[in-house]
Amino acid sequence: MGLLTIEKNENLNDTSQNITELEEQSFLDYQQEIDAAIERKALQLNLGSGIMKRNDWINLDMHPREGTLTMRLPQGLKRFRSDCVRYIYTSHFLEHISYPDEAGELMQECYRILQPGGVIRIIVPGIEKIIRAYAEDDQGFFAIQATLHPEWCTTKLDHLMYALQQDGEHKYGYDFETMHKLLVAAGFSNIYRSDYNQSEFENMNIDNRSLKDNHGRYLSLFVEAIKDA
Ligand SMILES: C[S@@+](CC[C@H](N)C(=O)[O-])C[C@H]1O[C@@H](n2cnc3c(N)ncnc32)[C@H](O)[C@@H]1O
Repeated sequence: MGLLTIEKNENLNDTSQNITELEEQSFLDYQQEIDAAIERKALQLNLGSGIMKRNDWINLDMHPREGTLTMRLPQGLKRFRSDCVRYIYTSHFLEHISYPDEAGELMQECYRILQPGGVIRIIVPGIEKIIRAYAEDDQGFFAIQATLHPEWCTTKLDHLMYALQQDGEHKYGYDFETMHKLLVAAGFSNIYRSDYNQSEFENMNIDNRSLKDNHGRYLSLFVEAIKDA
């Protein structure tokens, strides 16, 4: 069974056994590419890539898709050996898994598989901004939210709850303090805020969610952490 067969299977309610079979084959399909990148110390993983696939990255997502390694996270990362990944990029994925269990496991696995000096870049919805806007009754902020959210969102709380839950797709929300806690628990100590395409690591400047609020600030939270060398 090759990737094309996997592409035809759109049923995400498959039994876990089927998913495991799909994941097994998908990993085998990418094994050579992964090994070659490890050899060059240049393996870069894009977790929860969705349709935002990046060239020169191994794009991973639980949804089978052409050009993507089918993998359920965080458990799938156990397939990678320790200290073998140069960069991990993950945009608008972390909020889709449970906290603290899955999110904690994901960060621990990321720390384990990163090579010393390796970097993780995490982008999530900037929940803190919407909470502040709510408390400050910032009508301009919510006028922009109204262009992004479904029509039924008409009150500030509708927008706040939608940003947090997105029709049940989001399992948790993050501010910098909580993200910092998660990363520290996984072993990271060098943790800092970033901004849209402002990574000092050139390969990591692949952000493409550029929505801003009424104050010209990007709506997402951008965080990076470096594994000690
Ligand atoms: C909102 S999309 C983000 C896509 C892209 N990274 C972006 O920035 O637009 C979230 C993605 O996470 C994937 N996803 C959700 N839970 C997952 C899990 N447990 N394991 C792997 N992928 C998952 C979904 O299939 C979806 O493609």
